[in-house]
This record gives sequence, C-alpha cells and structure tokens, in this order.
Amino acid sequence: GRASGASPAKREHWSGQTAFILAAVGSAVGLGNIWRFPGQAYEAGGGAFMIPYLVALVAAGIPILFLENGIGHRFRGSAPLAMRRSTRRGTSRAGEGVGWWHVAVCFVIGLYYTAVIAWAASYFFFSFDLRYADDPGGFFLDQYLRLGEPGTVSLEFVPGVLWPLLGVWAVAIAILALGVAHGVERLNVIGIPLLVVTFLILAARALTLEGAGDGLSALFTPDFAALRDVDVWIAAFGQVFFSLSLAYGVMITYASYRRRRSNITGPALVVAFGNSSFSMLAGIAVFSALGFLAHQEGVAVADLEGYSGVDLSFVTFPAVIAQMPGGAFFGALFFAGLVIAGLTSLISVLQTISAALQDKFGWNPRVSAVVVGVISAVLSAVGFATTTGLFLLDVVDQWSNQLGIVAGAVAMIAAALWFGRRGTELRRHLSTVSTFRLGRAWVVLVNVVALVLIFMFVSKAVTLGAY
Ligand code: PFF
Repeated sequence: GRASGASPAKREHWSGQTAFILAAVGSAVGLGNIWRFPGQAYEAGGGAFMIPYLVALVAAGIPILFLENGIGHRFRGSAPLAMRRSTRRGTSRAGEGVGWWHVAVCFVIGLYYTAVIAWAASYFFFSFDLRYADDPGGFFLDQYLRLGEPGTVSLEFVPGVLWPLLGVWAVAIAILALGVAHGVERLNVIGIPLLVVTFLILAARALTLEGAGDGLSALFTPDFAALRDVDVWIAAFGQVFFSLSLAYGVMITYASYRRRRSNITGPALVVAFGNSSFSMLAGIAVFSALGFLAHQEGVAVADLEGYSGVDLSFVTFPAVIAQMPGGAFFGALFFAGLVIAGLTSLISVLQTISAALQDKFGWNPRVSAVVVGVISAVLSAVGFATTTGLFLLDVVDQWSNQLGIVAGAVAMIAAALWFGRRGTELRRHLSTVSTFRLGRAWVVLVNVVALVLIFMFVSKAVTLGAY
C-alpha cells in the first residue's frame, strides 16, 4: 500500500548484485577511510586499536549493516517509507520520522562533503605545477580558502572555492538525475576499481620511500594500555558506524533497489570486508608517507602534527608531495583518489535524500535531483565557499556525525525492533536467500548494540555539553 504519500509506480533497480556491492562499497569507502581511520588508530592504541575496531565491526557494524539492508529490502522504500512500514502496523508517523532524521543527517553531511571534494578537485589541478609546495599551510588557509579570523562570520565568497564547489554540485545533480542504474551505479562501477588501483599505486610508492618503516611502526606498535580507556572503545564504534555509512539511511535506501529475491547477507559481508581492507590500505599509504616526511625533516613521527582530517590531506600531504620524487604525479593521483572516494560517498547520501522525496511526493529522479541539488548547493556555498568556511566543519562533524547518527541508530532499532517487533520477521527475511541463516543471536546482538549506543550517546552529549 501507499504507506507514505504517493509512491512512484515502479521502483528503480540495480542491474545486479555486483553493481549493488560496488555502490555500497562506494558509500562506505570515503574520506573516513583515508583521513579518519589511520589517525584514529594511531591515536587510540596503534596496533592495539585493531581489537576494539574488530569487536565493534563484528559485534555492531555487521549486525546493523544486516539490519539496514533487511529493512530496506523487506520494506522496499527510502528511509522514511521503509522505517514507517517497519513499525507495528506499518503506518506510524514516528517511525517515518526516524527515516526523516536519517535524511536530515544526510543533508548536513552532504553540505560539507561537497566542500571537501571541491577542495580536492582544486588540489588535483594545483598538483601539476605544485603550487602548494612552498608553504602548504599558508597556501591552504590564506591563499586558497582565504579564511578570516576564527569566529568571525563573513558572507564574502571566495571564487577559487565557489566555482569548484558548484561544479561538484552540477556533477552530483547530473548523476542523480540519471537514476540508480544509469547514474549512481555507473559512477561506482567505474569509480571504485579506479580508486582501488589509485591507492594500490600510492601505497606501493609510499612504502618504498625512506622512513616508511618508521611511519608504519608508529601506526602499528600496540599500546595495550589504551584498551582500558572507554573513549578508545567509543572511538572504535564511532569509526565503524561512520565508515559503513550506518544510521544515515543510506544502506536502507541502497538495499531497497535490489531485486526481490536477493542474497542480502553475503554481499553485506563483502561490503564490510572490502571497506576495512581499504582502510588498511589507506593506513599503510598514509603512515608510510608520514614516516617519509618525518625522515626528511629529521624529526620523529610522533612529533608530526596534522596526521588526520583536513590537515592531513591539505597541509601535511602537500608537504610530503613537495619533497618526494615525482611529487606532481603522485599528488595528482592522491587528490584524484580523494575526489573519487568523496564523490561515491556523497552520491549515496544525496540519493538517500532524493529517494525520500521521490517516495513522499511521487517525483521522478530528475525533479528530485534538481530540488535537492539546488537547495544544498546554495547552502553549501554560503557555508563553505565564504571566508568563514573551515570553522563550520568541526562543529558540523561533532553534532551530526557523532551525536546525530548514534541517535539515528537507536531510534531505528527502537522503531523496527522494540515498537515494531520485527526482529524475527527480519531475521527470517534475511535468511531466505542467504548463504547462511541468521540465528536468534543476531536479534539479541542488535538489542545489545542499541544499549551500547545509548551509553555512547550520553557520554558524548556530556562531553559536547561541556564545551
Ligand atoms: N562512509 C563514509 C566514509 O567513511 O568516509 C562516510 C559516509 C558516507 C558516511 C555516506 C555516511 C554516509 F551516508
């Protein structure tokens, strides 16, 4: 039935299972694998971080990935529609609200993801003449972003950022408008293999630079004492959720485009495994490069700053590129990789928003793409192509990616399992065409995860409140 407004007559479909897997990997593999995971692991126990990371992956990430895939596939809808249908009678507005919450978080993340992709696209071109090489920090903040004083808000546009940003939005709108099979799927089928090759080359090059070994021991030397720190465990759960794009409604949406009789669990495992493998690859590339930089500067890796986030990509990496043989080539490769990784993730959040509007208002993909794209483009330009730019990023990340998704995950479990009592139904559904059967333990695990997340939410809210 039409649980949520008008439904378009026919749901779009992926052309097959591989296309779906590549698209889901495309969503999962993003900036988080490249600039979040390595730095996070290094900070939170080095090699020992693998323990909380794997626990979080196996005990929470994969079970929730099954859940989202199950909800999307069983209830065949965008996040709001599928969440609504997952409730007891299939009509709950509160259930639909959970999906809209996911959409809202996607909207926020989309605004800043686009900005970073635009910066990376600029830096791709800057790599040819290495114009950032002399003074990477000054170049990024003063010449490229033209940041004002911290805390001041200004609506003066920075053309060098504005145009690439609008370019990224234009590309994104075009891909969305082409639809699931011709747009989203094609981007990923071409982009993901390219991205993997790019990072294999980068990792191979970085590994053979002098000092690479020091970087790798900085990353992998275990500090088991870190495991006694609750924050390290929270960081691991946070990283796994963000990395698998969980609690954004993305996996619900992507699963809703699979054919009725599809294997859900097998591909989900492939996605999780592929995503973690890419994180490892990126970690090796990033820390080998950092080891090289430390070697060049005659300092210890531990003394380097800017080993994660925006700093890593736009300040530290340019410094590495400036000093390595063939820097222009590897620089271009790195920023191209960043653009692809970012774009395939961006498209997944935008498709999640667009799909929700299509289901709600009966719009076709083209109309929906233009509405979502134009509104977001304006907001992201105001937020990130002005001299206020960078300051917003941290705030947005803290609230939406840390608090917002934890709340979104708990609400999803509460709606479908606690109020909707769909645990057994979803478990059976997930087991029908599966390579293996999901036991009752899966349902139990999902419930435990919700409790852990509630704990995380409270602890994070307390820290943020203390600001
Ligand atoms: N999973 C992406 C990454 O690790 O970079 C980030 C992300 C993409 C999160 C899409 C959420 C999302 F909906």
